[in-house]
Amino acid sequence: MISKVLFIAVGAFVLDLAFAASISKRAPASQLKVCKRSVPNYKECFMQSVQAAIPVLMRGVPKVGIHPVDPLFLTRLDIGQGSGPVSIDLNLKNASIIGLKHAVIKSVKYDIDNYQFSAGFDINDNVEIVGQYSIKGKIMVLPIVGNGNCNITLVRPKLELKELRGKPFVKNGKTYMKLEKVLISIAKVEKMHILLENLFNGNKELSDQMNVFLNENWADIIKELMPAIESALEAVVKEIGNRLFTKVPYEEFFPA
Ligand SMILES: *[C@@H]1O[C@H](CO)[C@@H](O)[C@H](O)[C@H]1NC(C)=O
Ligand SMILES: *[C@@H]1O[C@H](CO)[C@@H](O)[C@H](O)[C@H]1NC(C)=O
Repeated sequence: MISKVLFIAVGAFVLDLAFAASISKRAPASQLKVCKRSVPNYKECFMQSVQAAIPVLMRGVPKVGIHPVDPLFLTRLDIGQGSGPVSIDLNLKNASIIGLKHAVIKSVKYDIDNYQFSAGFDINDNVEIVGQYSIKGKIMVLPIVGNGNCNITLVRPKLELKELRGKPFVKNGKTYMKLEKVLISIAKVEKMHILLENLFNGNKELSDQMNVFLNENWADIIKELMPAIESALEAVVKEIGNRLFTKVPYEEFFPA
């Protein structure tokens, strides 16, 4: 542990986003660590930089227009009509995703010269999606309808950032990156807890029974929810990535 801390001190230095954006008042909250590509343990240093960036990005860097990521507020999250045994139209409004700050980077691959990256993250905690839902459809022949407050909790999800690919562009003689593609998959979830309050117009007995049923069948239901959650996360990563990489020259993230 001590050697790692020392390593950061010699291998990494600080990239001040607020400074890079020409804003005079610097706050440590806007600082990211970056590593010289020439350090012997570059991969390890790179992973430590990403890990150190997580709390900074989770809190947000308002000065460069990066909104907080934890909690992540979404005005809507639409989970489209499925066609299998779970065919539901589920819309969330005023939703928050809580818990992404617990992400721990586990693996990374990069091809810096070609603007391509991938990484794996474990979230060793719950990720809660809370908000107001409305639902209509069928779950294994049972009709479901209702609206109210919801809490969908993913227990210890693993996230794969399968692809993060950018394209260089030049501005004032310096090269920057614009993100072209972000592909995220929720690789594994230990369990999902679902609470949809007020199903069936507030019929408590039916609502409670359906919630028990949903929790018993979480593994099938999660398959329907994942694509929408994944694309919400992809949009967020793309947005943050572009805020960072179109403001700060690429070589400042990956100095020689
Ligand atoms: C949005 O959610 C918050 C917290 O869950 C709640 O206090 C607020 O009333 C909601 N707003 C709307 C417009 O539903
Ligand atoms: C959501 O549900 C989980 C357990 O299923 C609970 O731990 C958590 O406190 C709930 N979150 C909110 C905001 O109610």
